Amino acid sequence: MARKKIALIGSGQIGGTLALLAAQKELGDVVLFDVQEGIGPGKALDIAQSAPAQGLAASLKGTSEYKDIKDADVVIVTAGVPRKPGMSRDDLLEINLKVMEQVGAGIAKYAKNALVICITNPLDAMVWALQKFSGLPANKVIGMAGVLDSSRFIHFIAEELGVSTEDVTAFVLGGHGDTMVPLTRYSTVAGIPLTDVVKMGWMSKEKLDSIVQRTRDGGAEIVGLLKTGSAFYAPAASAIAMAESYLKDKKRVMPAAAYLDGQYGVKGTYVGVPVVIGAGGAEKVIEISLNSAEQKAFDKSVGAVEGLIEACKKIAPKLA
Ligand code: APR
Repeated sequence: MARKKIALIGSGQIGGTLALLAAQKELGDVVLFDVQEGIGPGKALDIAQSAPAQGLAASLKGTSEYKDIKDADVVIVTAGVPRKPGMSRDDLLEINLKVMEQVGAGIAKYAKNALVICITNPLDAMVWALQKFSGLPANKVIGMAGVLDSSRFIHFIAEELGVSTEDVTAFVLGGHGDTMVPLTRYSTVAGIPLTDVVKMGWMSKEKLDSIVQRTRDGGAEIVGLLKTGSAFYAPAASAIAMAESYLKDKKRVMPAAAYLDGQYGVKGTYVGVPVVIGAGGAEKVIEISLNSAEQKAFDKSVGAVEGLIEACKKIAPKLA
């Protein structure tokens, strides 16, 4: 059987980590694309030279030409600029929107059968624009945010309780921004909802609230520490988990920025919801019931995403 092909558009901090993880998991041949010539080939060579020491059958190529992504099975997009301290994800909108236009054209020309996973921020608006610019079906263009946000939430909960992250599940809905909605009712420790964990007295309500807030601010905390860029290990690991579910048709239920066509009462917008990811891409959006407080928080988050999409339409009228 032919090896799969994974194209990474953007070979910066996240792109390089994606390449390493894809090689380590032997998901397929990796192509590292970047507008900065040298960065893709340099990282490809470095990782390829690590393969013998790691005992891996890796094949990597770096490029600045879109033709090299031809017939990719998965395309993961990190092209653009990351945040600096003091910037919000939304501050990146105008510059990264232009990048999405170029990337969308490249994908449309060379990889129209791929599953496209967008990571570039502001995520929900960029994945929406990328789907429009590429013209790929909406179920084949998804955004990575929920897996990362959930992973951050799980890490903080497990650390606080002194339990394995393997036994914690978490659920984060909504846009990838300050309005994201970590759902405590649907997040569990060994099957016990966090709301019950509080009732049992295992964690205080105040502590849980502070973890929810720290999850919302998870990206900014790392930007503040790194000072020269944003998080890259956890975002890359999260996108690789999504790619793996697609390539192996695992049908995992993962929170992802998916196109909503009426689900949750939302139409024509990308926003973070639970999705079945399998060989068909985003195969099914799972609609969970929300109580009034959760619905309110979700609506606010959707409103924030819609605001960014309107801003995109003003900058690029052909998206309207
Ligand atoms: N086409 C291809 N690559 C591009 C383009 C373009 N038009 N414009 C910029 N790039 C490349 C840059 O040359 C750089 O190597 O995208 C890469 C981005 O890498 P980093 O600056 O290291 O950023 P990274 O930390 O990887 O984050 C990328 O993901 O999480 C989001 O907010 C983050 O939007 C940012 C993106």
